[in-house]
Amino acid sequence: MKKILFLAALMTATLFTACNKCGCGQECAQKCGENCDQKCEKKCERQCCNAQGNVGDIVYNAIVTRKSVRAYTDQPVDSLIIDKILRAGMSAPTAVNSQPWALGVITDRELLQVLSDTLHQRNPQMVSGCAFAIVVAGDMTKAFEGEGWSFWVEDCSAMTENMLLAAHGFGLGACWIGGYPNREKAQKIADVLNISDRYLVLDVLTMGYPAEDPDVKDKWNPEAIHYNRW
Ligand SMILES: Cc1cc2nc3c(=O)[nH]c(=O)nc-3n(C[C@H](O)[C@H](O)[C@H](O)COP(=O)(O)O)c2cc1C
Repeated sequence: MKKILFLAALMTATLFTACNKCGCGQECAQKCGENCDQKCEKKCERQCCNAQGNVGDIVYNAIVTRKSVRAYTDQPVDSLIIDKILRAGMSAPTAVNSQPWALGVITDRELLQVLSDTLHQRNPQMVSGCAFAIVVAGDMTKAFEGEGWSFWVEDCSAMTENMLLAAHGFGLGACWIGGYPNREKAQKIADVLNISDRYLVLDVLTMGYPAEDPDVKDKWNPEAIHYNRW
């Protein structure tokens, strides 16, 4: 009998601990009940944390404090962080889940210098002095025919913003340099990086630990918002 009671207590404790990741375990444990497996736990955790405002505030703060940073220190960026930034990019929504993209990661200093000479930015250090750059390209074999063709631009833009936000979240500075629809510029970038005509370069993102701290621009404009009918 003692053994059974002990086992029951242990099971309850395990259930509670498994569902207690964000401090509202009891509620989670009640919702999941016997089905408190990893999937249920994750779902509960998300619901709890969202309800508590933790995730919302973190994401919101990251979004509203992001800014373009165009000067970087020499500090190298860990490859695990780069990997997470790329994963954040590939988590973006895409039309019909087509994921019409390819990414290039440039860490080679000579190549960054050549790219810098090609891109002619106002601050040339921005490209030659970044820790690494990411090239976002649309994969034309995955672009839709006809009217939906330009969805790749939207998809790759969503990917781009995801990566800028992830970089910001990891304490990096970053800046978006446009390619397409400037076809000449997109082609110049492609030529430097041996990118075949299967791809169209949408942008280059320069990233690194910030060596400047520009102000966040206040873009809030309630006049641009229309509730219900315009
Ligand atoms: C499509 C696009 C192209 C851009 N191209 C450049 C660029 O070539 N050089 C640059 O320094 N910044 C570029 N930017 C960054 C913008 O200048 C910047 O986002 C804008 O001034 C707003 O500032 P913020 O990012 O700090 O909010 C580009 C941004 C976008 C979305």
